[in-house]
Amino acid sequence: MSDLVEVQGLRKAFAGRKRFGRKKAEPVAAVDDVSFSIPAGETLALVGESGAGKSTVGRMAIRLIEPDSGSVTFDGGDVLALGSAELRRWRRNAQMVFQDPFTSLDPHLVIGQTIEESLQVHGVGDREERHERMLGLLDRVGIRPDQADRYPFEFSGGQLQRIAIARALAPEPRFIVCDEPVAALDMSIRASVLNLLRDLQEERGLSYLFVTHDLSLVRAIAHRTAVMRQGRIVEMGPTQRVFDSPEHPYTRTLLAAVPIPDPRIQRDRSRTVGQEVSPAELEEAPASTEDADPEWTTPANTLPVEDGLVAGPGRDDEVVVGLEKRSPSE
Ligand SMILES: Nc1ncnc2c1ncn2[C@@H]1O[C@H](COP(=O)(O)OP(=O)(O)O)[C@@H](O)[C@H]1O
Ligand SMILES: [Mg+2]
Repeated sequence: MSDLVEVQGLRKAFAGRKRFGRKKAEPVAAVDDVSFSIPAGETLALVGESGAGKSTVGRMAIRLIEPDSGSVTFDGGDVLALGSAELRRWRRNAQMVFQDPFTSLDPHLVIGQTIEESLQVHGVGDREERHERMLGLLDRVGIRPDQADRYPFEFSGGQLQRIAIARALAPEPRFIVCDEPVAALDMSIRASVLNLLRDLQEERGLSYLFVTHDLSLVRAIAHRTAVMRQGRIVEMGPTQRVFDSPEHPYTRTLLAAVPIPDPRIQRDRSRTVGQEVSPAELEEAPASTEDADPEWTTPANTLPVEDGLVAGPGRDDEVVVGLEKRSPSE
């Protein structure tokens, strides 16, 4: 067994909304037979439109949501079989970075305390050790030690996401689910947060499941990419291969909508993509732009940023309700 994280046949249905004239709400399949594995030290990107089921998969992979069926294996062990005390201990291994750093940190705690609390929950060190570790973690993510006694509202979005990353790192996990970790951030700082995640991966041999609706981020960060649509993975492979020769028509549709900073490349590519997708294949693609995420359909400003990363604009229509997310239309 060489892969750190392995999920097999994950399924999840949520209770749908009750419709007029019907007695019962039909359950809606959010995730339908999803399988993948992630080797130690690698990133799998999970991409697709909003509502595809990406976040639900991410949460099931670390058992923040219980799957209806399927299996989750971590380092060869069955995660779904863990009892509650074992699960609490196991959580040290698998952490999460949420999309919105403004709501993911406790507003009533100074940030140093938030991180020390995470260390304490996972039984790391004594008080003094935890304090030292906390300062080291903040330093590592680019937050000065003298800022440890400040409250979240005193920081920018980018700083808060760095702090959230420090908190995720605190128990020394081997696996982190990053759910749209830069979508809520200004475009100008996205690259630096992505670079931080990448550097940390190299330093610590971390595995990431990187959930994003923004394909323009994926090339720089993901070893492999899985494309998700309506609860299923329609294509998965090495990122380079998925981008250079996408096999599924839906992947081609998504890629055709990714903004590229160089207009010449954009032109060339749209021609290629246009030729490759036949009318029959387009039936596989979103039927209308209405059910597509506007992110994919609006031409967008793009901006090349440091270190070869290209960041596209982000849009988010989700609000965080506890750990679960819903779109406002529900
Ligand atoms: N807690 C929930 N209750 C009911 N429906 C949900 C819940 N979470 C997600 N869903 C639904 O499941 C589907 C997949 O959602 P999600 O995993 O958030 O997709 P994504 O992250 O790709 O945008 C959507 O139709 C969403 O409305
Ligand atoms: Mg999501």
